[in-house]
Amino acid sequence: MTDLAHWLKGQTADHSLASAVLSMAAAGAELADILRLAPIAGQTGLAGSDNVQGEAQKALDVISNDIVLNHLRQNPAISILISEELDEAVDLSSQGPLIVATDPLDGSSNLDVNVTVGTIFSVLASEGGLLQKGRNQLAAGYVAYGPATSLVVRISGATSVFTLDRNGAWLQTLAEAKVPQASGEFAINTARERFWDAATTGYVKESVAGETGPAGKRYNMRWVGSMVADIHRILMRGGIFLYPLDSETKAKGGRLRLLYEANPMAWLIEGAGGRSTTGAQGILDIEPEHIHQRVPVILGSADEVRRVEERYARE
Ligand code: AHG
Ligand code: MN
Ligand code: MN
Repeated sequence: MTDLAHWLKGQTADHSLASAVLSMAAAGAELADILRLAPIAGQTGLAGSDNVQGEAQKALDVISNDIVLNHLRQNPAISILISEELDEAVDLSSQGPLIVATDPLDGSSNLDVNVTVGTIFSVLASEGGLLQKGRNQLAAGYVAYGPATSLVVRISGATSVFTLDRNGAWLQTLAEAKVPQASGEFAINTARERFWDAATTGYVKESVAGETGPAGKRYNMRWVGSMVADIHRILMRGGIFLYPLDSETKAKGGRLRLLYEANPMAWLIEGAGGRSTTGAQGILDIEPEHIHQRVPVILGSADEVRRVEERYARE
């Protein structure tokens, strides 16, 4: 089986870029061990602090952030780290050609119930500065801590999937992920229905109507509440993920963060033949205004995303 380092050699001649991915993969492997044993080590519950977004940090949010930071500090290619858990961008190696943006632990509300969580990352060129559109990403990926520990990564070609073995090696288990064009699964927090806009309401209503409705086919709804888990399912078997702008999230611009949630996921899904949008524009075309900016996120199977885009264009 191809391992990650070998695959990276075939994807890029840029050693710094390959090293950035390897650093995040090493952080993910270390975290996988910690997460697996956290209930025994007593590393559960709240940290007693809030992050810059005003969210209560879990002990493991803080631990995950420290692990990623430690791995990137040891890599001279990384100039700056942007993290969901850190108010400001952190300066690392001043001469480093690369910036990493990360959500060190996504879906942390699922930790105490032993449901899949993840680490998301995006790699940018230092010379472009902190605020670059997603289209400029040099690489993106996530680690999903589920029944298997998976690393999903894309440089600029295909989106590829690796699995962590017992010896800490990342072995390629799917060379080129392909998001099926069509799908019968949607993922949205339906408890937010009263806040939705007309396009979202219309799309979900049409899907729920099933084979007797205008969509002419049956749908299922899936919502883990861990973006990594929901996106991984969509990457592997299709579907659409929606966290749209709604009347409650409008003031903040959306729920999910552009630099370390929306952009890397859009990069990975598009690399597998899927689509992504805010409803108004492609996620990867957004010019960021600040590092913790939030945006609406709609991505997944191309046909489904197009159906939502058509609604936004009409409404
Ligand atoms: P995080 O744990 O990094 O704050 O991210 C949580 C995000 C994302 O993982 C998930 O898709 C979404 O929040 C869930 O939102 P709801 O609580 O509205 O379901
Ligand atoms: Mn998150
Ligand atoms: Mn997080």
